[in-house]
Amino acid sequence: MKLDARERLIVALDVPSVAEAEALVARLGETVSFYKIGYQLAFAGGIDFARVLAGAGKRIFLDLKLHDIGNTVARGVESVARLGASFLTVHAYPQTMHAAVDARKGSPLRLLAVTVLTSYDDADLAAAGYDFTVSELVGERAAQARDVGIDGLVCSGEEAALLRPIIGADMVLVTPGIRPAGAAAGDQKRIMTPAAAIGAGADHLVVGRPILAAADPKAAAGAIIAEIAGAAPS
Ligand code: C5P
Repeated sequence: MKLDARERLIVALDVPSVAEAEALVARLGETVSFYKIGYQLAFAGGIDFARVLAGAGKRIFLDLKLHDIGNTVARGVESVARLGASFLTVHAYPQTMHAAVDARKGSPLRLLAVTVLTSYDDADLAAAGYDFTVSELVGERAAQARDVGIDGLVCSGEEAALLRPIIGADMVLVTPGIRPAGAAAGDQKRIMTPAAAIGAGADHLVVGRPILAAADPKAAAGAIIAEIAGAAPS
């Protein structure tokens, strides 16, 4: 997929208020074109802020991980499409994915499926009643997402290399857990550098703390974009 290096970086707006998000976006300026809004900001005015950012020409990834009865998912997806978001996450359950794909038809909104949350291991799946390992369930749900017409998946860098043969060239892989060499891992367990993740087949990288907690967030974002530009896609 031919993507500009700048477009490949998605900065996670993991801040508690719109005021802090506005300050960060202003500081990053033209360096960053794509932002992710998750639960924390979404439930603190972030949906209206997403509309403002989209109106200002930024691309928006709403990480709301929808999962409900089909009709409710469909109506929610229609509302997200109207506000001008580019990416929306849904859980990779067939009924949820079908409803979401039907509802976004005719809009530029692209749907990303979450196969298995990265905080889950095999024991967590067993406790939730599944008779699958994490890698089995990730592979199964990736194939279902592809067959339903989902546009992409959220996955770790390691999973990107394994999923690309299952999903083909056209689906988008969006990868969090990115840490430039020397950056603190925090609570992320499966981390990759920006260059390694692009090399493994990721299309977009989601980066939070390495930019948010940097002394100079704009310089940190610029360095990651430069590393992406110099990396060879798989
Ligand atoms: O600060 P950090 O770079 O670890 O932020 C990563 C972002 O990606 C956070 O917003 C986190 O919620 C999100 N994410 C993740 N792992 C997933 C899905 C989303 O880290 N599997």
